[in-house]
Amino acid sequence: MTRKSNPHLLPLGYLGILLCTCAAAETLTPLPLTTTADPEKMALGQRLFHDPQLSDQGKRSCASCHPLDSGGMDGKIRAESADGVSVLRNTPSLFNVGFNYFFNWDGVVTSLEAHTEKVMLNPKIMNAKWPVVIERLSAERDYVDAF
Ligand code: HEC
Repeated sequence: MTRKSNPHLLPLGYLGILLCTCAAAETLTPLPLTTTADPEKMALGQRLFHDPQLSDQGKRSCASCHPLDSGGMDGKIRAESADGVSVLRNTPSLFNVGFNYFFNWDGVVTSLEAHTEKVMLNPKIMNAKWPVVIERLSAERDYVDAF
């Protein structure tokens, strides 16, 4: 006699495996209420985040789409592309994003550094060229000091 398994329990089995795997890999902990990050580095990061010189045309900064006074989101159904025709996705909040393991709606990027490089060079977003950005920022004494 063969024993039939209940097909409705199968997804629960997968969920159990997933939960066990995640629990073994990472322990979820509450978000810290304070930061140990260097205040000078944070100030530099905040300045860069709001600086349109990082984009090729000098017209948009990270904050153009991620305004921090409204949750880091632009409130639009889809973000406005740099070329005005390409279709982008909805802009997610960046609050506490430093604690994420995966980035973007599909989680394709796994580090904040790699993500920033992609955003900077993406012709639909910042369309930046590193030599141009470095030249612009190097021309400002307080940027040079801050770096
Ligand atoms: C044109 C609007 C726009 C600009 C400018 C922009 N972003 Fe974004 N950002 C987006 C969109 C849209 C996504 C979601 C992309 C996806 O899922 O493919 C995103 C995703 C992100 C994420 C991942 C968030 C998450 O929860 O996974 C980070 C981090 C981020 N952006 C940082 C930046 C930084 C840093 C800059 C500036 C260097 C920047 N963005 C400039 C629109 C923008």
